[in-house]
Amino acid sequence: MSSGAELHASCEALAPLVGTWRGPGEGHYPTIPDFSYLEELTFGHVGKPFLSMTQRTRDPKTHAPLHSEVGYLRPQPHAAMEMVLTQPTGVVEIHIGSVAEVGGSVVVDLRTERVEGTRTAKPISEVRRRIEVVGDTLVTEMWMAAMGQPLTHHLRAELTRA
Ligand code: HEM
Repeated sequence: MSSGAELHASCEALAPLVGTWRGPGEGHYPTIPDFSYLEELTFGHVGKPFLSMTQRTRDPKTHAPLHSEVGYLRPQPHAAMEMVLTQPTGVVEIHIGSVAEVGGSVVVDLRTERVEGTRTAKPISEVRRRIEVVGDTLVTEMWMAAMGQPLTHHLRAELTRA
């Protein structure tokens, strides 16, 4: 969803994220068997002070859809970052964090201020996310406190600019 509009000045630090990224990921959690996935992640903009974020994942063998999510990154003054994200599993994440340039890479670090679920969603009390871009490589990582477990690593994917 890039409109041809100029990137909003507040999104400048996020410019390296804009575009579509694809690649493999690995997941695990103490309550489930390990798994692999393919991810497609797109950051778009319409010239306003946010980036849209659309993610889809598939099973690498059957190509059946797995998890997906859509949301917005909302940069704030002094390198602060807000993010809202919704999932078809009935989960909504509200994050606060930061964006930083660290030795040639851009790192977005986020923690949930609130995570809410519909009444049938699985219980999740905290989420941490990290996005790092170095040139044409983007690494996403995610940790969650869910199903009665403390904050524990769930996902890592290494994507390449499409
Ligand atoms: C790349 C994206 C993701 C993939 C490929 C993925 C994949 C999986 C798979 C295969 C399972 C085990 C089977 C199942 O319950 O469906 C699972 C379980 C789970 N995932 Fe994820 N997931 C992703 C993202 C997320 C996110 C963003 C959250 C929460 C914010 C989340 C929360 C959970 C929970 C709570 C479980 C249930 C664990 C249990 O039943 O013990 N997942 N995920």
